[in-house]
Amino acid sequence: MSARLLSGREASGATLIELASVVEALPFCPGLVFVRVGDDPASASYVRSKSRLAARVGIRSEIVELVACTSQEELLGIVGSLNADPDVDGILIQLPLPDHLDSARILEAVEPTKDVDGFHPINVGKLWSGEPGLVPATPLGLVRILDHFQIPVEGRHAVIVGRSNLVGKPAAALFLRRHATVTLTHSLTRDLPSLTRQADILVVAVGRAGMITSKWVKPDAVVLDVGQSRVGGCLYGDVSPSVAGVVAALTPTPGGTGPMTVAMVIHNTIEAARARRIGGE
Ligand code: GUN
Repeated sequence: MSARLLSGREASGATLIELASVVEALPFCPGLVFVRVGDDPASASYVRSKSRLAARVGIRSEIVELVACTSQEELLGIVGSLNADPDVDGILIQLPLPDHLDSARILEAVEPTKDVDGFHPINVGKLWSGEPGLVPATPLGLVRILDHFQIPVEGRHAVIVGRSNLVGKPAAALFLRRHATVTLTHSLTRDLPSLTRQADILVVAVGRAGMITSKWVKPDAVVLDVGQSRVGGCLYGDVSPSVAGVVAALTPTPGGTGPMTVAMVIHNTIEAARARRIGGE
């Protein structure tokens, strides 16, 4: 039997249609600013595609492109002016930043109410304590995919592989919020396959192509593959294609969790704009 494919393109398409109608009904036009430092072409094209999608939904967006040698002070100055600009509802600092910049300090400089990545410590704290705040887009997209395909989360065992601040840690908080039992694993976890084989929902966000094989999963599992590695011009997930022969459902790569992340950045921008301009709902 082959796994049900959980198409992120389908789920994000439906989400973007919903978001466009939300934007249309707003008495203002939300504004989003992407800040990108350096000349990595993959990063540049990723930001452009996010900006195009924002425009499709009716959101104003702008890309601030800075040279690789931009100093910490210059970048902090730009973040400060975006924080103060009433027309800017969302600020996204594209990561990774060049090594000479202190990413943590720069992310902390973003006004928390405009932090559409949900990376600011204030938003991290709100997520873990269950208060409303901005939640990182990738984990938000994972839960949205499950909701779109009507896959229940409550009471299930969610095993997360990878403890990054971008995905693994916030995914653990979000699945906990949705009443899953959560196991957060990482590179030093002992006997990882014995844990992944217990997963009802398996989230993999490591960036190692094909590391999860069919022997690491159980037959009724739902697998969400976040990892993306480009090898010889092709995109590979962290989950080997052979897993599709074992599990109940699986996100494809490409066209799985990636498109949902972009849709959730737009979702967060609308939430940020509403909260700031009309006090939130
Ligand atoms: N680089 C790769 N993924 C992300 C993300 O979700 N947000 C930001 N800001 N940068 C990224």
